[in-house]
Amino acid sequence: MNGRTWISKAPEGHASGHLVTLALLIGSAGAVAQGAPGTNPIANCIECHGTNGLGGEPDFPHLNGMPEHLLKNMMDAFRDGKRPLKVRLHREIPADDVAPIARHYAQQKAVRPKSPTQPGLVARGESLYQQRCADCHLDNGRDSDKEAPLTAGQSLPYLVAQTLAYKNGERKFPYLMDGAYRNLSDEDLTAIAHFFAAQDQLAPVQGRRRRR
Ligand code: HEC
Ligand code: HEC
Repeated sequence: MNGRTWISKAPEGHASGHLVTLALLIGSAGAVAQGAPGTNPIANCIECHGTNGLGGEPDFPHLNGMPEHLLKNMMDAFRDGKRPLKVRLHREIPADDVAPIARHYAQQKAVRPKSPTQPGLVARGESLYQQRCADCHLDNGRDSDKEAPLTAGQSLPYLVAQTLAYKNGERKFPYLMDGAYRNLSDEDLTAIAHFFAAQDQLAPVQGRRRRR
């Protein structure tokens, strides 16, 4: 994958705004088409994740370019109750739609818009990342070992919230990640989130190889 071949696309407009979003967040399941034959599997996702996988609000995650198996893990975690459910729809994705949805978003090559990050926090986050997180979130978050999601170029408010969610118990630590978090303060974790958010999603990293 070469970042330079990726096409830049502006995030889609969100004229419908917060009212529609709120209605979906509180779960108007009746309005949701359930994977009828011929329906577009991502039809119910576009409102928040776009067709190109770019999050429509600052705290919505970008899904573009995330490997298929990792997207499947995430959808399974919502369905199996292993991850807290903020959007009821995440639990209601028809089983037959999981693979085509994962394939669709994995293939999207839109460029993620950069979040405004603070240079001081990015620098502090980088050294903590190298010591604590680099074993699984490889290549500054652009690659993955042990099923870790890609975090490079992810939306900053989303990253801050999710990074802290493990520490405050909202999300359960996966295997060995609790050790990586030991004695890190909220500020340390926020700094690592700034470091991940400041990365280009796809550029090659000097001096580090993909998939060791
Ligand atoms: C109402 C807005 C909304 C809709 C509709 C929506 N999502 Fe989400 N999605 C979110 C938000 C907000 C989060 C992050 C919060 C959370 O973890 O619940 C998220 C998180 C995710 C994640 C986890 C990303 C990560 O990096 O861990 C996946 C995967 C995902 N959504 C897939 C989908 C799919 C597939 C659909 C359509 C079937 C969909 N979402 C519909 C708002 C939405
Ligand atoms: C031993 C491997 C490992 C290490 C070390 C590790 N992680 Fe993770 N990380 C994972 C796995 C696996 C997941 C997915 C688990 C889940 O679904 O909750 C994950 C998920 C995450 C997520 C959620 C991403 C998303 O899109 O929802 C964040 C944020 C994160 N890790 C941050 C960190 C930070 C910060 C460190 C270092 C302090 C770290 N991780 C160290 C394996 C690791």
